[in-house]
Amino acid sequence: MVCQNSLSLQAAQEKLDANNQSHLLNFIDQLNPEQTQNLLSQIDALNFDLINPLLDKYVRQEPTLALPQEILPAPVYPIEPTADLVDKYRSALELGESLIRSGKVAAFTVAGGQGTRLNFNGPKGNFPATPIKQKTLFQVFAEGIAAVQNAYGAVIPWYIMTSPANHADTVAAFQANNYFGLDPANVMHFPQGMMPSFHRDGKIVLASPDSLALSPDGHGGSLRALHTSGALEDMSRRGIEQISYFQIDNPLVYVIDPMFIGLHALDQAEMSSKAVIKAEPLEKVGNFTLVDGRVTVIEYSDLPDKLAQKRNPDGSLCFESGSIAIHVIKRDFVAQLNQHGFSLPWHRAVKRVPYIDSNGALVEPDQPNAVKLETFVFDALPLAQRSIIYEIDRKEQFAPIKNATGTDSVESSQQLQIERAAAWLERAGITVPRKPDGAVDAQIEISPLFAHCPEALTEKASSIKPINPGDCVYIA
Ligand code: UTP
Repeated sequence: MVCQNSLSLQAAQEKLDANNQSHLLNFIDQLNPEQTQNLLSQIDALNFDLINPLLDKYVRQEPTLALPQEILPAPVYPIEPTADLVDKYRSALELGESLIRSGKVAAFTVAGGQGTRLNFNGPKGNFPATPIKQKTLFQVFAEGIAAVQNAYGAVIPWYIMTSPANHADTVAAFQANNYFGLDPANVMHFPQGMMPSFHRDGKIVLASPDSLALSPDGHGGSLRALHTSGALEDMSRRGIEQISYFQIDNPLVYVIDPMFIGLHALDQAEMSSKAVIKAEPLEKVGNFTLVDGRVTVIEYSDLPDKLAQKRNPDGSLCFESGSIAIHVIKRDFVAQLNQHGFSLPWHRAVKRVPYIDSNGALVEPDQPNAVKLETFVFDALPLAQRSIIYEIDRKEQFAPIKNATGTDSVESSQQLQIERAAAWLERAGITVPRKPDGAVDAQIEISPLFAHCPEALTEKASSIKPINPGDCVYIA
C-alpha cells in the first residue's frame, strides 16, 4: 500500500468522502507543501476495496472465531529418523544439498516488524545479539549465508523484507557494513505493505496532521510483497526454486537447512514448517493441526484447553508440535497465490495508538484505543496442497530475542547461544568447563564463518585450543 504518485487534493477529498473517512483532511489547511504531499500519497495508497469489508468484520467488533469441527494432530517428521525413515532422510539430505549446490535455494528474512517489545531504536536486525562479539542479527545471518555459500560453492541470494518505517535504516546498515561481506548483487531489500490503524468506529486514525497511523501489515504480507517488489521475478531469473523463510529475531536459526529443504522437496510440498515439542500444553506458540486434511496452525489462544491438554496413551501431548516460524516455501507456490489471487485471514489487536483529535490536539492514550490488523504467514499453510512438518531440537535452533528482559530476551538468547556452542564443541570431542549444576562455565561464541553446523565444527576440532573455566572464547 505504499505508493509514489499522489492524488490531487480534490481527488483525495472525493475518495475519502465516498468512504466516510473525510476527517483525514481536517488539517490540510495547516500543512506545508511537503506535508500535504505526504498526506496525499498516504491517502492515495489506501485501498478501500480491501479496507471497507474489514471494518464490520474485524474493526467495529471482534470477529467470531469459528473453530473447525474436527481438529487432528498434524503428522511430523521426527528429529532422528525411525528405522522406516532412514533411507528417506538420506535421500532428503542428498536432494537438499544438491538443490543448494545448484543454486536453487534463496534465503528470505522477514524484518518489517516494529519490535515494540524489544524497545530498540532502529531495525531489529541491528540489535547486538551475540554473547562476545555483540554481532548484530544481520551480521549473524549474513555470515551464516556466506558459510553455506562457501560450503556448497553456490550463491544463496538473500531477500530481506523491511517496512517503509525501517527500510532506509536497514539498507544504510548494510551499506555501512559493506554488506557484511556478501556481494550486494545477491542481497535485495524490499518494503512490505502497510495498514492503517482504526478507531473502534471504523475511522482511520490520524497520527499527526500530515500522517495516518500506519503499521506493517504482518509477516503474512510477505507473500504479497515478494510478488509486488519484483523479488519473485528476480528469484525466477536466478532459477531459485525454494525459499528458506525465517524471522529476524532468532540468531540460532539454520539460515539454510539441507535436510529440511530436502524433506520438503522430496515430498513435493509447497510450504513446510519446522516444529518444536511444546514446553507445556499451553505454551504461547501456534499449534500444528490437521483440518480438512490440510496442515493448519491454530494459535495457542484459540486451541480449546481440552485439546491442548489432551494426552496420548504414552503420556505425550496429542498436540505437542509448536510453530517457530521457520518455513521452506516453494517459489512457484507464492507465484501461483499471487497469480490467482489469495487472501489470508486478518488478526485483530487493540493497541495504544496516539492520535490527533478533532481539535487537532495530540492524544496519548493510556489504554488500548485502536485496532491494528495483520496477516500471519502460517495462515498460508492450508492453502498448500502438500505441507510437511519437521521437528527440530529447540536448544539447537531456537533462541528468539523478543523482549527487553526475561523470557525470550537477549540475555536468555545469549545463554542459549553459549549452550549450543558448548554442545557443538562437546560433540566434536572438546571438553567444555561446566559448573556443578551443568551450566557452561565460560563465555563461548563460534563464528558462523568458522562453523555453520556441528559437522563443520567437528572437521576443524583440531585447531581449537582447550577451554578453561571462566574463559571468554571467540572461535573464528
Ligand atoms: P513479531 O511477531 O515478533 O512482531 O514478528 P514484531 O513487530 O517484530 O515485534 P513486536 O510484536 O512489536 O514486539 C515476528 C517476525 O515477523 C516480522 C518481524 O520483523 C519478525 O521477524 N514481521 C512482523 C514483519 O516482517 N512484518 C510485520 O508486519 C510483522
